[in-house]
Amino acid sequence: MKFFLDTANLSEIREGLALGLVDGVTTNPSLIAREKRPFRPLVEEICALVPGDVSLEVVATDFDGMIKEGEELAQIAPNAVVKCPLTKDGLKAVRHLSGKGIRVNQTLCFSATQALLAAKAGATYISPFLGRLDDIAHVGMDLVRDICAIYRTYGFSTKVLAASIRNPLHVVDAAKAGAHVATMPFAVMEQLMKHPLTDIGLQRFLDDWAKSGSKI
Ligand code: E4P
Repeated sequence: MKFFLDTANLSEIREGLALGLVDGVTTNPSLIAREKRPFRPLVEEICALVPGDVSLEVVATDFDGMIKEGEELAQIAPNAVVKCPLTKDGLKAVRHLSGKGIRVNQTLCFSATQALLAAKAGATYISPFLGRLDDIAHVGMDLVRDICAIYRTYGFSTKVLAASIRNPLHVVDAAKAGAHVATMPFAVMEQLMKHPLTDIGLQRFLDDWAKSGSKI
């Protein structure tokens, strides 16, 4: 399973890369807005830093606008993946852009029917938003499981990118479901490596070692 960071923050990306945990990055208009920097230089920097795929989202909502923005975004760097919302125009845009060899991440997916259509349209990634489904008392992970099963059955090459991840259990369950990628905030990535028993165990070892007066 690949780990993507769901952020547009350069310090978080640098730290995640230094840990060797970042296979790619996903951004969205809200994450970009949070950085309070002009769009183009910021995303150019992100694409140059990250060896893997970087999703950059269109903000147009009509077909022509998405195509125009998508073609521009795709030219930013070879690892740029255009993100289009899962609307009627978004599906048309995915079909058009993927037909031209541009890789697309179809985002804001909340149902298996949407995911099926995205795969048929030629999306490179489908992004089911599991945390936002959990927020409204629907089990987001059920959607990830359904999409993985449907794609497996029909041999779709579209990769399942579990998005809107809020905690480590989401990552574990997405991995068990067979999602190809989990995109997560930096805080969740940090939580993945933490365990209180590791800290307690380490402290005990160090105390015993100090008492023994031994040296390496
Ligand atoms: C995915 O690509 C989105 O950027 C993201 O996962 C949304 O997560 P949120 O629901 O925590 O905003």
